[in-house]
Amino acid sequence: MSTAYLNGTFLPLDQAQVSVMDRGFLFGDGIYEVIPVYNGKLFRLAQHLRRLQNSLDGVRIGNPLSDTEWTAVLTELVARNADSEQAVYLQVTRGAAARRDHAFPADTHPTVFAMSTPAPAVSNIASEAGIKAITLPDIRWQQCDIKAITLLPNVLLRQQAVDAETAEAILIRNGYATEGAASNIFIVHNGVLVTPPKGPSLLPGITRDLVLELAAANGIPFREAGITEQTLGQAEEIWVTSSTREISPVTHLNDRIVANGLPGPLWQRMIRLYQDYTEALRTGKTG
Ligand code: PDD
Repeated sequence: MSTAYLNGTFLPLDQAQVSVMDRGFLFGDGIYEVIPVYNGKLFRLAQHLRRLQNSLDGVRIGNPLSDTEWTAVLTELVARNADSEQAVYLQVTRGAAARRDHAFPADTHPTVFAMSTPAPAVSNIASEAGIKAITLPDIRWQQCDIKAITLLPNVLLRQQAVDAETAEAILIRNGYATEGAASNIFIVHNGVLVTPPKGPSLLPGITRDLVLELAAANGIPFREAGITEQTLGQAEEIWVTSSTREISPVTHLNDRIVANGLPGPLWQRMIRLYQDYTEALRTGKTG
């Protein structure tokens, strides 16, 4: 049984319990993060803690821990779970109140929960084959930059993708591709790497930012710009990125084969740069 953290205590995951009056349970009133761990090292922790703060500010929950305290809790959680490759999940809800009321109660304390699951390294073989995706209307709210636990639209969208025997749904809002149901998107268009600019219609992915940093550092031309559904349909390459998927090439979109149906040359280059980065993290050469 893996070890979890709940409100100041480390305990076996199956013993971690919260009140049914917790606003996370009743309203989905909370926010979360997913942080990959490579060889026991938390990936881009400072960036994750910054996004955590932004999400808390966005929903008006005070941060229950300082960055130093978060670092201590998460480092201990990783150490208490034996696997060298993990995915840490943490969530903060507004806490439990005496009665159910949509408006914020006066006297709640945030509930802080974290757990870790073993995460086998994303298989090269799986990504070499590429994944299938479908486009779906983006039915989510208008503050998708907040990493809220209120994920029912994302759940329904991902299930529609699974029902269509595909791995991800790429979401379309007002004629533009925003992101995946649980990932950011990139395309290669006329040889240039393109991803939508940050804003309320997408989550500012930590993986997305690293991909852009690697592109800038290695002379790969890129642009942050809107991607119309039409441009998506003509893309030379399509990738989706996330903490748990790293960079996955989309080789089939709806009924179309993307380019020649194989992961493209720019993806081959970027995944090597990405793996060099995670390898440096594993061996302690970068943070
Ligand atoms: N989701 N966009 C959405 C809607 C997401 O849910 C995620 C990640 C991302 C990518 O962000 P990052 O690179 O920081 O993981 C983009 C996580 C993995 C999840 O919900 O499990």
